[in-house]
Amino acid sequence: MTKKIVLLPGDGIGREIMGSAKAVLETVAEKFGHEFEFETHAIGGDAYDRLGEPLPEETVQACEGADAILLGAVGGHKWDSLPKHLRPEQGLLGIRKKLGLFANLRPIKGFKPLLHASPLKEEIVAGSDILIIRELTGGLYFGKPSERRDNGNVVVDTLYYERHEIERIVEQAFNSAMLRNKHLVSVDKANVLESSRMWREIVDEKSKDYPEVTVEHLLVDAVAMKLITEPKKFDCIVTENLFGDILSDEASVLTGSLGMLPSASLSDKVGLYEPVHGSAPDIAGKGIANPMGMILSAAMMLRYSFELKEEAEAIEQAVNATLEQGYHTADLQIKDGKKVGTEEVTQVIIDQLNVKITS
Ligand code: NAD
Ligand code: IPM
Ligand code: MN
Repeated sequence: MTKKIVLLPGDGIGREIMGSAKAVLETVAEKFGHEFEFETHAIGGDAYDRLGEPLPEETVQACEGADAILLGAVGGHKWDSLPKHLRPEQGLLGIRKKLGLFANLRPIKGFKPLLHASPLKEEIVAGSDILIIRELTGGLYFGKPSERRDNGNVVVDTLYYERHEIERIVEQAFNSAMLRNKHLVSVDKANVLESSRMWREIVDEKSKDYPEVTVEHLLVDAVAMKLITEPKKFDCIVTENLFGDILSDEASVLTGSLGMLPSASLSDKVGLYEPVHGSAPDIAGKGIANPMGMILSAAMMLRYSFELKEEAEAIEQAVNATLEQGYHTADLQIKDGKKVGTEEVTQVIIDQLNVKITS
């Protein structure tokens, strides 16, 4: 099949790990007989530096015309003091909003060779397999007003949702749960927030359409604790934008590193795929970033946007085989094994892919 993939490397390690995902996809294309056309566009601080804004119109248009989009990461200290509308993060939030990417799927499943890489006890981590379904285009991130008043001494951020926005993400969550272990935890702060009480009502209404799915409502503070004390109790988690952002970085600890986590951001039309982590300014430019979250995001793209299940699994198995052989980047706190950089670990993954496909 022929597909047009827009690449948005962005900033920091985003630029380093994008090359890894592209090289892996080129190997998949060659081995499975597909044609992937890549087009690279600017976003984030890089777009601001070169074109004066974090989300140029030509980037939006290219994304609208793509079969799928891969994004590295945006942000960095260099741009931290820019006015809000020019910050790199606005590029990311803008593309999510413009493309209607309301459903952010963040799977947290540890690879077996990394069971001992988590600071949590192995018996707690082993067997955990969670899907966080994060609402991505509403809530506190997009509520208006969001401003300073009274000479900067009063500040307002608004948590705003319309019923249909909650209904569609909750429906997505029930559909995801039906494909997994049919257990859905809805996370909110209904003891305090009115938006959470409406969220609960909608989850209860929707649950009538999915009698096979067991539903639990839990408060976000308790979930923050349970995620790392009893992770195996979770299957699907659905939650508001900011809660989902925080809980997914926390849950990454189960896998050994934030650098392992991929994600898919879905709309009714196109899908955007990106690792959960950011531009990691502390390690950018050193060639040591973990490309696995990015590469696994490319696998999610093959599965969700192109329905190429076998190809997606081949990538996931190649990552697993690489870890089994001990190859890993420095973010994974493993004493034994072979610590290598971004390019070397990418090459091993590609080698494993070649071995797997030809055998
Ligand atoms: P971060 O996710 O960039 O980094 C957090 C920590 O994890 C750092 O110590 C970093 O070195 C490490 N890390 C993250 N990904 C890694 C990888 N692939 N390999 C090895 N180590 C990795 O979060 P931060 O430092 O809080 O934010 C830095 C910048 O990134 C900020 O400007 C923030 O806005 C932006 N950000 C962007 C995205 C995105 O583009 N999707 C996501 C999160 C943060
Ligand atoms: C993420 C990031 C973004 C978010 C930032 C960079 C705007 O943390 O994708 O998780 O908060 O959604
Ligand atoms: Mn985040």
